[in-house]
Amino acid sequence: MTVELKDMHFGKDLLGIKQLDAEQIKYILNMASGMKVLINAPSKKSPHLQGKTIITLFYENSTRTRMSFELAAKYMSGTAANISVSTSSVAKGETLVDTGKTIDMMGTDVIIIRHACAGAPKLLADNVNASVINAGDGMNEHPTQALLDAYTIFEKKGDFKGLKVAIAGDIYHSRVARSNIYALTKLGASVYLTAPATLIPPYIEQTGAIKAKSLEEALEGADVVMGLRIQKERQQSALFPDIREYARFYGIDDKRLALAKEDVLLMHPGPVNRGTELTSTIIDGKSSVINEQVKNGLAVRMALLYIFTRGGRYEDIN
Ligand code: CP
Repeated sequence: MTVELKDMHFGKDLLGIKQLDAEQIKYILNMASGMKVLINAPSKKSPHLQGKTIITLFYENSTRTRMSFELAAKYMSGTAANISVSTSSVAKGETLVDTGKTIDMMGTDVIIIRHACAGAPKLLADNVNASVINAGDGMNEHPTQALLDAYTIFEKKGDFKGLKVAIAGDIYHSRVARSNIYALTKLGASVYLTAPATLIPPYIEQTGAIKAKSLEEALEGADVVMGLRIQKERQQSALFPDIREYARFYGIDDKRLALAKEDVLLMHPGPVNRGTELTSTIIDGKSSVINEQVKNGLAVRMALLYIFTRGGRYEDIN
């Protein structure tokens, strides 16, 4: 799967995978390949964001996403700053739009936002001149996670056509699942979903994903198995009896993973609840690419900052 790197139009903001087409996704993955070379080089410094300012505005906790955007900006010689919501004027009642306009007036080029409310990145994008990248909005989308997941699959498998991807876990609350379903079905993979009935949203098949009849059906012959975190913080009521019960009937262990292909990739967006959605043995086992996903997240976010500080114009990155 190669796409010629030339000018490609993305618009001002990256709000979701739903708004991207397959060619745009492939373009980002190809550019991420170039960025990975830089990450693996002894000197991680390029001039591509010189004079550009990136602000991370996170209303929810994060380790991977926030850190990788900040490092991505720094590796490319940009200026990166974080607004800590708990110690900013947000804690005094400032609205999202007012906070956004304040950041905008300081000459910011890209704002990376994570928010508990679906649609918050769009509201911000409509009110600022800076480009806005969605780093996760409620139960809606987490586009940069899906792009790094797709990049990890692309790197290991070369293409998406004919691949069976099984997604297991708290699909109902998962913005990662939604963005991955959009990305992977657009790229030609078959996406199977498995979870207790209370953790699968109604009408999810309308996205192009397949609701498996059982965990076993989803895992059988899978090329990729993606575990999702049980999001206790978003559950209003008990959606399954208890964690041990969940792990027994839906958790993936080495016996269940053996139903998948021999060369299966085991993925998880992190953070993982060890022993709940996945056992420690498989998290640390030979099929796991969970740590590589983190590195690829940096490459993909470098590619995104490159694109969204240039309006999609391409210059040779090597
Ligand atoms: N996968 C993910 O979004 O991780 P963080 O919450 O640590 O950013």
